[in-house]
Amino acid sequence: MLRKYGVIAGLMVLLSACQPSPSFLDPASPISNHVANLYWIILIMALVVFVLVEGALIWILIRDRKRSDDDELPAQIYGNTRLEIIWTLIPVLLVIALFVMTVQTVNAIAIPKSATSDLNLRVVGHRWWWEFDYPDLGIATANELHIPVGTTVQVSLESVDVIHSFWVPQLSGKTDVIPGQHNTMWLTGDQVGEYLGQCAEFCGTQHAFMRFKVIVDSKEDFDAWVANQQKPAYQPQTEDEQVGYDEIATGACSACHSLEPSEIETEKVGPNLAHLFSRTTFAGGTFDLNEENLRSWLHDTQAMKPGNDMQITIPSQQFEQLVTYLKKLK
Ligand code: CUA
Repeated sequence: MLRKYGVIAGLMVLLSACQPSPSFLDPASPISNHVANLYWIILIMALVVFVLVEGALIWILIRDRKRSDDDELPAQIYGNTRLEIIWTLIPVLLVIALFVMTVQTVNAIAIPKSATSDLNLRVVGHRWWWEFDYPDLGIATANELHIPVGTTVQVSLESVDVIHSFWVPQLSGKTDVIPGQHNTMWLTGDQVGEYLGQCAEFCGTQHAFMRFKVIVDSKEDFDAWVANQQKPAYQPQTEDEQVGYDEIATGACSACHSLEPSEIETEKVGPNLAHLFSRTTFAGGTFDLNEENLRSWLHDTQAMKPGNDMQITIPSQQFEQLVTYLKKLK
């Protein structure tokens, strides 16, 4: 039994060593800053209480231990009103302090009133990938979310299947993504960079592989990204590209995927492909997006991500043309 736990613990250490693990204690937004501050205050308070209580206990155990020449029972005390008032009052005061600080934090991170300068974002949870739509900009993308630095992003969240939870530890708290219900939250990034997100509600076999990235861009980089995403998908220039294009635009792929940059995907099962290769990962942020992984994926998606909705075999005569065209979708 012990050995089994040893092996599990060892594996967990190994896993934690090879996965970058984002933490809300490394905040990059006002929300996470407030939450991290509250966490440290509570931790320090708890540590002080722990050290005082355990210290007093150990001190009394040592001071009043039974000595070899000591046969008499010590004085037996039944109740001490003053002590009891003190050790009731101190925890009550601590709990009141915690309550006040928690309410202050909740108010500080409450959704700000929306303003015209805000960016509106629609997040849709799918098993097992994330759809990100920018209704005001006419952009639909997946698994990688761009926001401009220092901007308030008003987020509305919905799900097409089961309950998911949207969580970017360094930028925000968790918000549940529930079918049949619109939840709202907000996001803002203080520093340019990439922040990992993860579905935080068990949603099936690939729950752990329902990841995403938030890329906080400078204003210029964000504008350039938007301009590129708004462009129509690459138009085929060669015969091979045309075959690949037809397969996606009107063939079997079109049942689940779209090449229209602004086509909201909720009715579709799979991510928008208009600018597929402008992203760095795919399949719920699970794999790096490169030709090798794309080929493996198209050969056997179920081997790479068992249970996902893409359960088709690409006809071998169109395989190369499909890869050729997909690679052009920058
Ligand atoms: Cu979606 Cu867990």
